[in-house]
Amino acid sequence: MKINDIDMNNWKDYDEIITDSLWIFPARDNSGAHTPEYHGNFVPQIPRQAMLRYTKKGEWVLDTFAGLGTTLIEAKRLGRNAVGIEINPETAKRAKELIDAEENPHNVKTEIIVGDSRMEETYRNLGNFQLVIMHPPYWDIIKFSDIPGDISNTESLEAFLENFEKIVKLAKKHLDDERYLVLVIGDKYSKGTWIPLGFYTMDMIMKNGFSLKSIVVKNIEENRGKRGKYSLWRYRALKDGYYIFKHEYVMFFRKL
Ligand SMILES: C[S@@+](CC[C@H](N)C(=O)[O-])C[C@H]1O[C@@H](n2cnc3c(N)ncnc32)[C@H](O)[C@@H]1O
Repeated sequence: MKINDIDMNNWKDYDEIITDSLWIFPARDNSGAHTPEYHGNFVPQIPRQAMLRYTKKGEWVLDTFAGLGTTLIEAKRLGRNAVGIEINPETAKRAKELIDAEENPHNVKTEIIVGDSRMEETYRNLGNFQLVIMHPPYWDIIKFSDIPGDISNTESLEAFLENFEKIVKLAKKHLDDERYLVLVIGDKYSKGTWIPLGFYTMDMIMKNGFSLKSIVVKNIEENRGKRGKYSLWRYRALKDGYYIFKHEYVMFFRKL
C-alpha cells in the first residue's frame, strides 16, 4: 500500500524529507499564518515532515490537540485535508483566524472542532483519516486552561495517562488500518525525579494496537525568554545532579 507521494524511482529528489532520527531545527518556521504567539505550539516542520512521509495529497489528517492549528496550516500548504480538535474555544477561535489567513492553493478542506477529544461525541460527524497527529499537553508542565476536560489539569500522572488512553482509542477508531499515528511529547522533571512522559505514553499507544516504527529526538529551540534563565537552570542542574531538557520526542506508530 502506498502511503505517500514519494516516487521511489526518483528517490534522490527528496532532499527535504528527513530520514535520520535526530532532528535539529535551528528555528521555527514562522512564515505565512504560522505564529510563535502560542506558548506550547510545535514547529510546523514536525507536521510537515509527518505529512510528507505518511500521507498522499488529498488524504485526511486528524490532530486531536489542535492548539493554534499548526497542523492545519501546514496541511493547506501540502494539499492535505485536515481536522483539528481543540477544547479551548478561545484558542480554537484564534486557530480558525490563522488557518483562514493561509492561502489554499490545493483547495483542501480544513475544520477546527471545538470539543473534548476524550469524548466519543466529538468525533460523531467524522469519517476516516490516513494520519493522526497528537501533540498533547506534557501533563501539567503548561496549564493551558481551567477547562475541566483539558488534560493539562489532571491531578495525577495516572489520571493523565488514563485520559490520554481514551483519546488514543477514539483516534484509532477513525484511523485506517496500517496507517500512522505521530506523537509529539516531552518529559517532565519534578521533585528530584525525571518523569518519562514520552515513554509512558509510547507504551500506552503500543498496548492499544500500534507498532512502534521510530523514535525521533528533536531539539528544543532556544527562545529569548528562556535564554535569560539559562544560567539559573545550569546552576540548579549542577547542584542537583540532573540534565536540562534540550530535547523532546516525535514518535511514529503504525496501526496494526
Ligand atoms: C501542546 S498544545 C498543542 C499545540 C499545537 N500543536 C500547535 O502547534 O498549536 C495542546 C493543546 O491541547 C488542548 N487540549 C487539552 N486537553 C484537550 C482535550 N481533552 N481535547 C482537546 N484539546 C485539548 C489544549 O487546549 C492545547 O491547546
